[in-house]
Amino acid sequence: MENILRGLNVYLIGMMGSGKSTVGKLLAEKLNYRFVDTDSIIETVTKKTINQIFAEEGEANFRDLESDVLRQVSAYLRTVVATGGGMILRQDNWSHLLDGMVVWLNVPLEVLVKRLEADDTRPLLHQENLTEKLTQLFAQREYLYKQADICLTIDDRATPEDIVTNLLQEIPYHIKPKFNPDLN
Ligand code: S3P
Repeated sequence: MENILRGLNVYLIGMMGSGKSTVGKLLAEKLNYRFVDTDSIIETVTKKTINQIFAEEGEANFRDLESDVLRQVSAYLRTVVATGGGMILRQDNWSHLLDGMVVWLNVPLEVLVKRLEADDTRPLLHQENLTEKLTQLFAQREYLYKQADICLTIDDRATPEDIVTNLLQEIPYHIKPKFNPDLN
């Protein structure tokens, strides 16, 4: 698999709670890749939580930081990147994402609701009706998530191991021509 990917980065995209970090870490282990999480990098660099950044500097500033981090990590090779759920919103980010292999973890909304019910680390979800908010965000974003190279539809029972196994099987079918060893 490492040979097939030839160092190409893998970018995990998807809604909050879709398991990008958990799946990403495991995938990185299997590929012998580095793992990074753009939200964690932002928190480390700013020494603030995502909640604090949204509250003190606003979403637009957070999105700027997010784009900066993506630009920097896209200079690496052999890296699995778990992106924040809104990374897909800015068109410019796609030039970096599509330099690698983009994988959408598509998890049903009712599963996301269950996972996020007790979570207070996501500023966009700090409101009364979680189902309504997630439904609205998903409706705004679905067409962007669909731009991924690989769309993995994930059911409730799939373990992170199952998801990674499934993904490793899919990857060879989605290598873009310039990275296809047969064409070089
Ligand atoms: C966001 C997702 C979060 C984080 C921020 C905004 C979003 O990341 O970047 O709270 O807009 O969907 P996760 O997807 O890792 O929760």
